[in-house]
Amino acid sequence: MAQTAALVNEYTLPQVFSNKTSAPSRMTIREYKKIGEGAFGTVVEAVLRYEDGGVLSEQNSSSKSGASNKNLNNGGATTSKDEWLGPFAIKRVPAQTEYKSRELEILRVVQHPNIVSLRFFFDKKSSSDNKIYQNLVMECLPSNLQTEIKFYRQSKYTIPYPHMKAYTFQLGRAMLYLHGFGISHRDIKPSNILVDPNTIRLKICDFGSAKKLEPNQPSVSYICSRYYRAPELIVGCSLYTTKIDIWGLGCVVAEMFLGKPIFQGSSPESQLKEIAKLLGPPPNTFFFKSNPQYRGNMYTTKLFSCTIEERFRQIFSNSPADAIDLLMKILVYDPEQRASPKRVMAHAFFDELKSREFKVYPRGSSTPIELQLFNFSDFELGLLGPYKDELKIH
Ligand SMILES: Nc1ncnc2c1ncn2[C@@H]1O[C@H](COP(=O)(O)OP(=O)(O)OP(=O)(O)O)[C@@H](O)[C@H]1O
Ligand SMILES: [Mg+2]
Repeated sequence: MAQTAALVNEYTLPQVFSNKTSAPSRMTIREYKKIGEGAFGTVVEAVLRYEDGGVLSEQNSSSKSGASNKNLNNGGATTSKDEWLGPFAIKRVPAQTEYKSRELEILRVVQHPNIVSLRFFFDKKSSSDNKIYQNLVMECLPSNLQTEIKFYRQSKYTIPYPHMKAYTFQLGRAMLYLHGFGISHRDIKPSNILVDPNTIRLKICDFGSAKKLEPNQPSVSYICSRYYRAPELIVGCSLYTTKIDIWGLGCVVAEMFLGKPIFQGSSPESQLKEIAKLLGPPPNTFFFKSNPQYRGNMYTTKLFSCTIEERFRQIFSNSPADAIDLLMKILVYDPEQRASPKRVMAHAFFDELKSREFKVYPRGSSTPIELQLFNFSDFELGLLGPYKDELKIH
């Protein structure tokens, strides 16, 4: 993650709300590093301290602070004055805009090992423009997939395959959970996928575009960053499903193998052309099912002479056969044919992860770590159905 200018900004607020208990507390916030700048807001790294003796439950759910090395688990009901909680990432976005963000609403209900967790939230007026900003205090991860892909690309490598498998599996697992609630993230891309290269953990972030999709209720199709936008969105489908996120997942997996985005369209329409260069011309039924009113270029001329399978093998010439097979099941025009999260998770590409002997070595370490990838909740087991038998360690 790009580490920009150091800053120290410390302030005390009378009402910082706990996500767990919804209770307000008087807290001091110390911001010391800018870690992200997006289209909608700023993300800073910070530590927080209770000024009125916060509740123990918060201490236990927080990691140790970078600013204080004291063990927070003091067994008492309150924290003392010099105990900082964190580090956290605080995302700050304007509270009222014409664009409806459901980020707080969604982050308050989701709880999953592969989704960034919200710890606190508060509103604050900015002294520079007098506007109210919403602040989301989240657990902080050291990197994201965009940074990792770039890091390896610079040294002409790819992310090691065992890491790729573990990351992709966790991404599929996050989608199984979100889609189980009908929530679509709608902005899947490498920079919105946080990772910790020391533990190979992955968590989806940036729920600024997320929405619970209701059957037969239209949603805007102009959503999702262009390179990762599903073909049905490109042609203006408004009754799309959570499968748009699976397309994004496929693009992210492809990017881990290629080191660069797979479909780099220079305009919204030419994005479809880039896709057609791999998948061939979209079938007429695709346009009809997605948006019968579509009048744009349909790219009906086949742009390559071989079969689609051969085309995949050409483009992913250095990638293993099981990875190519997975991508061929995800990168398909018809969202109904596109793999579901459970089908993704049950794919042979992840077989290695299910072996009792599987261990992963974090970057630069000779000590292997074990990953907890199959500790499914009852909710997840229910969503997996018969697939759960394939998703066990043997
Ligand atoms: N919890 C976190 N821990 C560490 N870094 C984070 C966290 N949340 C966000 N970031 C960093 O800040 C960046 C911007 O955050 P986010 O994507 O939520 O904001 P955004 O304004 O919606 O961005 P964009 O519009 O560019 O997608 C992320 O790409 C990531 O690098
Ligand atoms: Mg983002």
